[in-house]
Amino acid sequence: MTATGLFVSFEGIDGSGKSTQSRRLATALRAMGHEVVLTREPGGSPGAEEIRALVLQGDPDRWSAETELLLFTAARRDHLERTIRPALAAGQIVICDRFADSTRMYQGLSRGDLRGAVDTLHTLMIGQEPDLTLLVDMDPVAALARARARATHEERFEDFGQDLQDRMRAGFLALAQEFPARIRVIDGNRTESDVADQVLATVIPALSPAFSPAAEQRS
Ligand code: ADP
Ligand code: TYD
Repeated sequence: MTATGLFVSFEGIDGSGKSTQSRRLATALRAMGHEVVLTREPGGSPGAEEIRALVLQGDPDRWSAETELLLFTAARRDHLERTIRPALAAGQIVICDRFADSTRMYQGLSRGDLRGAVDTLHTLMIGQEPDLTLLVDMDPVAALARARARATHEERFEDFGQDLQDRMRAGFLALAQEFPARIRVIDGNRTESDVADQVLATVIPALSPAFSPAAEQRS
């Protein structure tokens, strides 16, 4: 790990096991003696958690696609300023359950093609990528069943059903090809502990001082 910490994100469709694997990775790295900040988006700071409630609860048609993009970006900016950057500056490992790739997918592709606007806002207001992104890939039918079984009051995109879930899975896999050095695909169609083993085996090399983020990550 470098003096500036390590920033790891988990991405994937709803129900793919990101939250479960984020927790397991944090536990494993702490057991190895690392200082870990486990966080999530939308949210991860007091202000961003307030925005989370605005975007994930209530009438799904409450916001236009553009307004929603601004809200997710505002939440990310606060999270970055208050939680992620201070932790990285202190040399800690940040594990974030979803980050900007989720915006590229959900706001960029779900309601028309807003990917250009997503990328422009990201460059202007965020300007940071994780050092390593673990894309938990899995069968979209099984993932949606898992997500629905969990049934919470935060169901913004689960409500859009199987079609969106299928498109998001394909979109995430295409994103992994767009950023091959940063994004590693993890097969999520296995037991929790098998997935966790692959996750840890993927993260451990990134803890080495020799690990150097590829140029594409910083663009
Ligand atoms: P996500 O954060 O990607 O939406 P979660 O980690 O919340 O997914 O997992 C969704 C549901 O599936 C949870 O009830 C969780 O316990 C369960 N789950 C997670 N990983 C697995 C797995 N590998 N096999 C079976 N069930 C799993
Ligand atoms: P999350 O709590 O991670 O849901 P899940 O555990 O079901 O994967 O995220 C909530 C929802 O927010 C999810 O449907 C994806 C959506 N989302 C966006 O639309 N844009 C974003 O930038 C982020 C971070 C999440």
